[in-house]
Amino acid sequence: MRALVTAGPTEEPIDTVRFIGNRSSGRMGIEIAEALLAQGFHTVLALGPIRVELPGHLQNHPQATILRFRSSHELESLLRRELPVADLVVMAAAVADFRPRSASEGKLKRSDGGLTLELEGVPDLLASTRAARKPGARVFGFALEPRERLERSAREKLERKDLAGIVANPLETMDAPDIEGTLFLRDGSVHAPAPAGQRVSKSAFAAWLATVLAVGAGQG
Ligand code: CTP
Repeated sequence: MRALVTAGPTEEPIDTVRFIGNRSSGRMGIEIAEALLAQGFHTVLALGPIRVELPGHLQNHPQATILRFRSSHELESLLRRELPVADLVVMAAAVADFRPRSASEGKLKRSDGGLTLELEGVPDLLASTRAARKPGARVFGFALEPRERLERSAREKLERKDLAGIVANPLETMDAPDIEGTLFLRDGSVHAPAPAGQRVSKSAFAAWLATVLAVGAGQG
C-alpha cells in the first residue's frame, strides 16, 4: 500500500525574494508520515518550506520518499503526478487560499507610495485534483476551524472535497505541539483518540490516526 502525505505551508511568491506564507510548522504531517511508515505503508511525504530539519531516520527510511514543494502551483503539479498511484492520501498541508496574481521578476524596489498586491484565489487542490485520484483511493483532509463551527464546517468540507474522512481541529492547534483532533468519516461516524476537549501530542495523534487508517477506516 502506498500513502501520500502532504505537510507544511505554501509560499506564494510576490517577487524573487518575497512571498506570502502561513505559520504551519508541518509537524502534524511529518508525524503522520512516520506513523504510516511504522504501519508498513510505502510513504511519499510531500513537504513544503518548513523551518525545521527533517528527522534523519525519516530521510533515510527505505520505504519513504521525500518530495519538496514551495508554492501552491508546485504542490498542484506534485499532486497530479502522485495521486494516480496513491492508495491512501492525507492532505495535512496548509495550502494558501490566496496568492499574488503574478510574481514580479527580480526584487521589487522600495517605493514611498507603498505597494498594492492583487491576489487571486488558489483552487481547492483537494477538490480540483479529484480526477487524478487512483480509483478506490481513500483521501483524507484536515479542517482548521474556530471551535464553534468545527463540526458543521468539517462535514461540509468532507462532502465538498469528496473525502473519505476529515480531521477537524480548532484553530488554536496550528503551530502547537499538541492537537485536539476529531476524525469525521463519510459514513457519519466520529472518532477521536481522547475525550472531547482533551488535547494529545501530535505524535500520539498521528500514531492513533495511522492505526485507524491501517485497519481500513473510510473504505467505500
Ligand atoms: N486545501 C486544499 N487547497 C486549498 C486550501 C486547502 O487542498 N487551496 C485542503 C487542506 O490541505 C485541508 C483542507 O483542504 O486538507 C481544508 O483546509 P482549510 O484551510 O481548513 O479549508 P479551506 O478549504 O481553505 O476552506 P476555508 O478557508 O473556507 O475554511
